[in-house]
Amino acid sequence: MENSDFFGNWGGSFIPEILHQTFEQLRDEYKKAKNDPDFWQEYLHLMSTYSCRPTPLTYAENLTRHFGGAKIYIKREDLNHTGAHKANNVMGQGLLVKRMGKKRVIAETGAGQHGMATATMAAKFGFDCTIYMGEVDVRRQRPNVFWMEKMGATVVPVLDGSRTLKDAINEAFRDWVSNVDTTHYVFGTACGPAPYPEMVSWFQSIIGSEAVRQIKEQHGKPPAKVYACVGGGSNAMGIFQGFMDNSAVELVGVEAGGKGIDSGQHASRLCGNDASPGVAQGYKTMFLQNSDGQMLETHSVAAGLDYVGVSPILSDLAEKKRVRFESATDVEVMEALDLTMKMEGIIPALESAHGFVQAFKEAPHLSPDDAVIINQSGRGDKDIFTIAHAFNDPSWKEFIITTGKEYDK
Ligand SMILES: Cc1ncc(COP(=O)(O)O)c(C=O)c1O
Repeated sequence: MENSDFFGNWGGSFIPEILHQTFEQLRDEYKKAKNDPDFWQEYLHLMSTYSCRPTPLTYAENLTRHFGGAKIYIKREDLNHTGAHKANNVMGQGLLVKRMGKKRVIAETGAGQHGMATATMAAKFGFDCTIYMGEVDVRRQRPNVFWMEKMGATVVPVLDGSRTLKDAINEAFRDWVSNVDTTHYVFGTACGPAPYPEMVSWFQSIIGSEAVRQIKEQHGKPPAKVYACVGGGSNAMGIFQGFMDNSAVELVGVEAGGKGIDSGQHASRLCGNDASPGVAQGYKTMFLQNSDGQMLETHSVAAGLDYVGVSPILSDLAEKKRVRFESATDVEVMEALDLTMKMEGIIPALESAHGFVQAFKEAPHLSPDDAVIINQSGRGDKDIFTIAHAFNDPSWKEFIITTGKEYDK
């Protein structure tokens, strides 16, 4: 194992023998791409012609007036193709797959956004595609499953364990071990064995490099704070990298507080007291696990944050106190979502709304000369069923029942 596989005490590459060669190939291709300026140009061209990049930085004037204090800016990753930052990573890995000459991709997905993005990439590049998704997530993200299948992907519901993201990852690794010569595993976040945490963060750094430029143009100086929700950590790493070297900018990661940080029903690894260091799924990080190393059940209203592990890069940055970690509860998330929709006409994904919660708590205590940026990692359209249920919307319930019957005729 190379030392550069570690970020302080965290990371590494704990993989079965059978995957060694394929990981070597991936490392080589990634290193070559990183040292080849033409690769990044090809990537930028692809993202600007296929995925609406650069995404805008929106000044949230009404929310700013409502809260007082710092100006609130929103980085609009929801405007990417397929509605989330996941496209940044997936299209980058797609270009690497082409270079490696492989013809099949597999992926895990939680909220379905990474699966959607992978299915579109596979359709565009002509790869076979299989997506593993916990059966619980298949149920709560049905629209995404529908579109993945329509784009030609096979979606496999995973029935093991808690039937969520970690189980989907285990199943994807099982597939990879059996099909290593033909298949690339498009890992969806900045976790897993090296080189994934660094490689995924590199593709996502496109968010931060745009945001640095945009805030300078619009606000004249860097923001006081940057907020991002943290599932595995890829959108947070994406935007944070733009500001990492400027110690005057505080970086805040917001995890899923679920039913409360003391309820045992959450997915907060880096704030709260329920996680401990461990090695699983090929890497070392803070995991939500019991004293025997068995993974705990997690809970979040946002499927994309419902994961036991977290990026080893973020575990390191937490230890070094470069990033502060907070959590937002399901209830707080719904309130922030409601306010943002009504005041700005913007629908954040449930995952992204976690970042909004913390920004709304802190912006009023800053000066009007300051700015904060919230990374809106995705759009909330995929969450319509969960949101309508949480708001107990009677006309939506009626629509679901009557439309279902209508199409059954
Ligand atoms: C919209 C959205 N935001 C955030 C996340 C969390 O992932 P990450 O922490 O890797 O950005 C997901 C994961 O599915 C997502 O769909």
